[in-house]
Amino acid sequence: MALDMKAIRADFPILSRKVAGGKDLVYLDNAATTQKPQSVIDAMTHYYERSNANVHRAVHTLATEATEQYENARDTLAAWFGTTRDNLIFTSGTTEAINLVAWGWARSNLNAGDAIVITEMEHHADIVPWQLLAEEKGIEIRVVPIDTERDILDMDIFSASLPGSSLVCVVHTSNVLGVANPVADIIAQSHDAGAKVLIDAAQAAPHHRIDFTGMGADFVAISGHKMCGPTGIGCLLATTESIEEMEPFMSGGDMIETVTMEKSTFAKGPQKFEAGTPKIAEAIGFAAAADYLSNFDMDELHGHIRGLAMYTASEIKSVPGITVYGDHSVSEGSGVVSFLHDSVHAEDLARFMDAGGFAMRTGHHCAQPLLNAYGVTSTNRVSFYLYNTMEEAEAFVEHLRYIIGKFG
Ligand SMILES: Cc1ncc(COP(=O)(O)O)c(C=O)c1O
Repeated sequence: MALDMKAIRADFPILSRKVAGGKDLVYLDNAATTQKPQSVIDAMTHYYERSNANVHRAVHTLATEATEQYENARDTLAAWFGTTRDNLIFTSGTTEAINLVAWGWARSNLNAGDAIVITEMEHHADIVPWQLLAEEKGIEIRVVPIDTERDILDMDIFSASLPGSSLVCVVHTSNVLGVANPVADIIAQSHDAGAKVLIDAAQAAPHHRIDFTGMGADFVAISGHKMCGPTGIGCLLATTESIEEMEPFMSGGDMIETVTMEKSTFAKGPQKFEAGTPKIAEAIGFAAAADYLSNFDMDELHGHIRGLAMYTASEIKSVPGITVYGDHSVSEGSGVVSFLHDSVHAEDLARFMDAGGFAMRTGHHCAQPLLNAYGVTSTNRVSFYLYNTMEEAEAFVEHLRYIIGKFG
């Protein structure tokens, strides 16, 4: 059944906004953050209007409701991500989830002489924590380069990097290229080599149901705000074995069992890593986002989004002076199209497009090593999501042609 684009768009109040002096908003910065449906906004408002209280502390009515709603959100999300509530730790997003693996697991389980494998395709969130940890503990970092001719990881070097490594950290889908990595193969090879695997699924979770159990990774990091949820919430999915091996990263209230002035003992499971008052409304909103997406066949959604990216990439490739990055000939991947014009500066182009109502991203996309590999310092990036239409993609291409024709 074809997607009812009119009904989908009506779910997102912001899409009826006018910008740039009365132009229709064409929001194409979804890889940075997606818009939120009314049901997510309502779920958070409802919590604040009816049940706002702190969780896990008091027995009064509101506190009980707040705790129930927060823990129900964990159940909903665990089911959505193919795991159990004992394997889902709430974080502020992918960045905190990766830091939790670095400082909660790797710091106490790896030592000088150990090696961590990362790739040139990573977001800074999956590079910088490893550099800091490596510096502190004398751990080796092995970097798998990208083959810029084919826009994929060099899997021969990947395989050669594995022997003797303890942890492999790979982005599922690149936020710059929209390219999806062969995650099943990466996990299988890493486990064969005796390494644990962390998958950065920030750009994959908005497109596919992440089946944590089926996937077989040890850790998966996810951001809620890139999949219709609120900002400030995400999660780390971790196997029970890995959770048992982790030490607290943040400490304080809510993560303890007992505290004396001499010593503290810690809660078991996810709570051990959720110190302080948690992101209650945000967790409720994140679960509402999963509920919203559950109204759709995710394969169909992905086909629609990827179709818009493939169309846009193939059209703008023929605009004189434009280079498109990433392979858009394959159905795997995301809704991202990065490109650069050889004479109109990326930022100027983004401003010209903004004046036409088109919101697109410019910059290094927190992936400077990847951009360095392509010999550029920034790109323009459009990224589609479920509410974008083919009419919007066509209008984008037409306006881009017009701007390049005028200023190129
Ligand atoms: C691939 C990837 N990893 C990590 C992140 C960081 O996510 P967050 O800022 O939500 O923590 C992003 C955000 O753009 C991303 O695209």
